[in-house]
Amino acid sequence: MTPIRAQFRAVICGAALLLPATALAATDSAALFAKKCSGCHTYGKGDRVGPDLKGVTNRRSRAWLTSWIRSSQKVVEAGDPIATTLFDKYKRERMPDQNLPAEDIAALVDYLAAGGPAAADASRPRHASTATLADIALGRELFLGSIAAKNGGASCGSCHVVQVDGASTGATFGSDLTHVYSRFQDAALSLALRRPCFPRAFDKDTAGPLTADEAFAVKAFLRQADRAASPQRPKGRPR
Ligand code: HEC
Ligand code: HEC
Repeated sequence: MTPIRAQFRAVICGAALLLPATALAATDSAALFAKKCSGCHTYGKGDRVGPDLKGVTNRRSRAWLTSWIRSSQKVVEAGDPIATTLFDKYKRERMPDQNLPAEDIAALVDYLAAGGPAAADASRPRHASTATLADIALGRELFLGSIAAKNGGASCGSCHVVQVDGASTGATFGSDLTHVYSRFQDAALSLALRRPCFPRAFDKDTAGPLTADEAFAVKAFLRQADRAASPQRPKGRPR
């Protein structure tokens, strides 16, 4: 065990006393999966050397998974019917025994049950630089209200101004959002766009004003507005 890993584990053990399933623990099992398992297994991307592990926690019991990951050959040799079928199906390719402590195996099974690497992909918002022109156009329509957001509510442009094609458009009840992308940066703006920015501005305060796809489109539009507009300058000093 490398010192860094030992340190990391110490942090997790300390945290585990105080907190329920923590982000730290999730990070650790993600790293473990990437290092020890992803060479042979995908999660939702098809079979590789071994089977796709998506849904494996529904197909198999926790006890079975724990014994299997510890030593697949012991389970095969014990004549377990699932294990022998798998072993034959995967051309008797032997999954190496995993010399892992019980808590690491438990963490891996939890990680797979919680959606594995796919869950992390889904919860990390896409960066606005990956947007297509269509995404940006949709964001503009949503912002200005020519397309209604799924959750309803007033359009952004009914309260906020943004500079589009050199001209300011929208209303001035809220702040000018032309350079909000630079001010917030990508990830923070994603979070902000999923929350109601102003009480009672939206029909469903709890649901958030925009769906994930809509928020992505609006963010992409705001990024483009930020880059296209003249740089921010003090008020009342036109160039
Ligand atoms: C060198 C390749 C390899 C590595 C590394 C590997 N596996 Fe496997 N795994 C396999 C193969 C091949 C099978 C199919 C059964 C067999 O042939 O033994 C399998 C089967 C499985 C199964 C049963 C799947 C099912 O559909 O029931 C699980 C669960 C599993 N592996 C989990 C893991 C985990 C967790 C790790 C990392 C700690 C891991 N494996 C690392 C090759 C590998
Ligand atoms: C009913 C009016 C209203 C509507 C509709 C509205 N906002 Fe706001 N918004 C405000 C007010 C008021 C504030 C707080 C003051 C400010 O910073 O502008 C605010 C704040 C914000 C902020 C933080 C600005 C900053 O500089 O800190 C962002 C980002 C934002 N709104 C985005 C949006 C987006 C995107 C939409 C459309 C989905 C939207 N707003 C719809 C009124 C509104």
